[in-house]
Amino acid sequence: MPVPFSLLCFLTLLIIFYTPSKCANAKSPPPKQLPAHRHRLLSVDYYDKTCPHLDQLVSSITTQQFKDAPVSAPATLRLFFHDCFVEGCDGSILISTKPGSKVAAEKDAVDNKGLRPEAFESIKKAKALVESKCPGVVSCADILAIAARDFVHLAGGPYYPVKKGRWDGKISMASRVGSNLPRANSTVDQLLKLFNSKGLSADDLVVLSGAHTIGFAHCEHFTNRLYDYRGTKQPDPAIDGRLLKELKMSCPRYGGNTDIVAPFDVTTPFLFDHAYYGNLEGKLGLLATDQGLVSDARMKTMVQGLAKDKQKFFQAFAAAMDKMGSIGVKRGRRHGERRRDCSIHQS
Ligand code: HEM
Repeated sequence: MPVPFSLLCFLTLLIIFYTPSKCANAKSPPPKQLPAHRHRLLSVDYYDKTCPHLDQLVSSITTQQFKDAPVSAPATLRLFFHDCFVEGCDGSILISTKPGSKVAAEKDAVDNKGLRPEAFESIKKAKALVESKCPGVVSCADILAIAARDFVHLAGGPYYPVKKGRWDGKISMASRVGSNLPRANSTVDQLLKLFNSKGLSADDLVVLSGAHTIGFAHCEHFTNRLYDYRGTKQPDPAIDGRLLKELKMSCPRYGGNTDIVAPFDVTTPFLFDHAYYGNLEGKLGLLATDQGLVSDARMKTMVQGLAKDKQKFFQAFAAAMDKMGSIGVKRGRRHGERRRDCSIHQS
């Protein structure tokens, strides 16, 4: 797919400084089925009697947050993904490490260091409002699921009903993070294995990767592609020449500014649309894992289908988010809790 030169000029302007405020036709093995009871635990009307206006309460916060800090959209979507993949969708990502404790909480794991504070802030504000109207009823995990959906919609993506009924988890350990999250240099086989282990298919991998239609990545996640792709001492051949040049200017091999980020979607970086897939066809993927989806025969047809059809992507994304949102759901006091403050375990 030819890429208008103006788009790449636009990209130059978009490579921005970001200072974190510290803070199928898939031939892959069939996915493990999600235990059916996990799905049955969740329902759209779960809080209808106990907190009937929950969705509107959360929406009042996410809408304002999106106006004040649009980066909250990609940030919260990623937060939800990281929560679900580690220990299941149970709000364990929101726990803060206890002062003086030797055991670091999930959010302090190296692989979570890029999660933006704006995402945590959105959930904190939403939880405070929900607690003021429906005290002790709604889990942090459910608020995160609702907020992620809201932000997808606010950024231009689909609006879908969110099933609820997740309890918050009692375990949050940094040591459990690394092996449960994909890396920017994971191979397609590694990604499939990880997603399959969560009950997600090759199609789900392609569709959920479409979340990278919004948001940004730091240079460290793709510099190898620019200078020494998989030990070849050459750039990744699957990267558009002009994009390569632009990215090299912003992300030098050595000694670059570690706060620089580049947009995942060079064409419409702030819009939740299906441009991500067209970009992959035009060798404009940012991470090796993004571009790898279209180079792999098992997933290419799916990428091509989504690149052509925005509605198809939106429907598939809503369904895949529902599936992802059911991973490792907890219910009951043995494994779960209902936190009043999302950052602190209840007892
Ligand atoms: C398929 C494997 C995946 C890999 C290897 C991956 C990797 C990454 C990396 C390296 C970043 C940049 C982090 C930074 O520089 O701070 C990122 C950002 C992001 N990821 Fe993924 N990710 C994957 C799947 C997903 C999924 C399934 C979702 C959601 C459903 C998601 C949503 C996001 C979003 C929205 C951002 C932008 C965050 C921001 O701008 O604040 N990713 N991802």
